[in-house]
Amino acid sequence: MNSTSELLPAGQLREEIARLKKEKNALIMAHYYQRDEIQEIADFIGDSLALARQAAKTDADVIVMCGVNFMGETAKILCPDKTVLIPDTNAGCSLADSCDPKEFEAFVKAHPDHTVISYVNTSAAVKALTDIVVTSGNARKIVEKLPEDEKIIFGPDHNLGEYINSVTGKNMLLWNGACHVHDRFSIQKIMEMKKEHPGAKILVHPECRRPLQLIADKVGSTAALLDFAHTDDAQEYIVVTESGILFEMRKKCPHKTFLPAPAEDAECQCNECDYMKLNTLQKVYEALRDGKPEVTVDPEVAEKAIRPIKRMLELSE
Ligand code: 13P
Ligand code: SF4
Repeated sequence: MNSTSELLPAGQLREEIARLKKEKNALIMAHYYQRDEIQEIADFIGDSLALARQAAKTDADVIVMCGVNFMGETAKILCPDKTVLIPDTNAGCSLADSCDPKEFEAFVKAHPDHTVISYVNTSAAVKALTDIVVTSGNARKIVEKLPEDEKIIFGPDHNLGEYINSVTGKNMLLWNGACHVHDRFSIQKIMEMKKEHPGAKILVHPECRRPLQLIADKVGSTAALLDFAHTDDAQEYIVVTESGILFEMRKKCPHKTFLPAPAEDAECQCNECDYMKLNTLQKVYEALRDGKPEVTVDPEVAEKAIRPIKRMLELSE
């Protein structure tokens, strides 16, 4: 029996993970921002929407969510009878942290005639105060389905809220939250890259600031950006989101060139989410082996939070 401190070589880790997965009827899910080696061993890779959809329909007994805590919580809320494991419980999210449930509750109470829409990058407690959850993959579609005169509160991502307001013509009231990764891309550095690569198209996640959304050839969720790159006819792209997505882009389009966009203050040429990168093969192996850390959600909170998540799944069909 290995102790948690014994580090195994990558080949052995992959073998052990495959063996444990079978033994425990486990499904390994990974977000596109995970390390390459985790995306390689995952049974399912997707954006936040696809991960939620997959969690809702899996018949596995155990879900190993290789992403960040809110993704694990969403899976647990959708599958309360399954064991949901997360390789590193420190995998938080600065965007989810920018929305304190107590402060959000006061904001909601101050606008009683508003429908509350929350981005999936929130704690279960914030989801419990919400009418409809959305992801970057379905926010536009869901907002467009609501009556034109419906008053809406949108939180926590201000940049995504501005984007949705601009494409739908709505005037949603926005919470002032942001993701530390997407909020720090440098438009100046990206314009310089564009000068050096005039034929490159610019792909931007809607969590980026408005000026970047405005210079984009495509604004979309990680899955939408991937899809665009796959079907579009350009040969080169500047990718303005967390650099983990480049792994799947290069896999799907091996003959195209993908250039990661740098952050304002970065020394390196890309922009990484330190939370997403906390998960390693070793931690996935240990989680499967030990059946922990397990995601738990207060049942009272989960009972309230499941309604807006289910509403999202219905409305994004
Ligand atoms: P997607 O839903 O587009 O995958 O985004 C999740 C996320 O955390 C973006 O920072
Ligand atoms: Fe959260 Fe930003 Fe990391 Fe996405 S990239 S998980 S929004 S901190």
